[in-house]
Amino acid sequence: MKKLVILVSGSGTNLQRIIDSTASGEIPDAEISLVVADRECYGLQRAEDHGIKNQLIRRGKGFSAALETLMPEDTSLIVLAGFLSILSTGFCEKYHGRIINIHPALLPKFGGKGMWGMNVHQAVIDAGEKESGATVHFVTAEIDEGEIILQGKVAVEENDTPETLAAKVHQAEYDIFPKAIAKVLRNQS
Ligand code: GRF
Repeated sequence: MKKLVILVSGSGTNLQRIIDSTASGEIPDAEISLVVADRECYGLQRAEDHGIKNQLIRRGKGFSAALETLMPEDTSLIVLAGFLSILSTGFCEKYHGRIINIHPALLPKFGGKGMWGMNVHQAVIDAGEKESGATVHFVTAEIDEGEIILQGKVAVEENDTPETLAAKVHQAEYDIFPKAIAKVLRNQS
């Protein structure tokens, strides 16, 4: 069994998708060994409800160091599933090739500092983009710049608001995230 560590900051609907797809075999031969949140959030509750070990490490300077001490030895992949803190350069280097993130836009556009949550969808609409989507990519010390693993596209309609666009992008996320995780795990073995 490959072991996943999932990092969350929010409601954790992507975490739920990963829980369900490890259970169904859509992500084969994998289990979640730990969920870590950087703030109180519903994602932690989801882990608890499924009997998955979970831990709150408050965001701030010591986060990455504290996380490192908690990391199970045999972790195959660290998955950022709606996680809002920036991991330290040292942490990113130590786990290079074994950390992935989901971003709610088509990188390399609309990434980097400040591009999170509704800011992203507002920026996409303001730029008059005809399509947006979700990107799963490897995490490096440079925000949103690691190699792209998978993308899913959605149309941006004239009457879309950041909220309606976010809802569509979320659906694209649920589609590509399990596929991207399975793909990375497959390439490891
Ligand atoms: C997703 O849109 C993800 O792309 C972004 O944060 C959101 C998390 O949503 N990084 P949820 O907590 O999985 O519902």
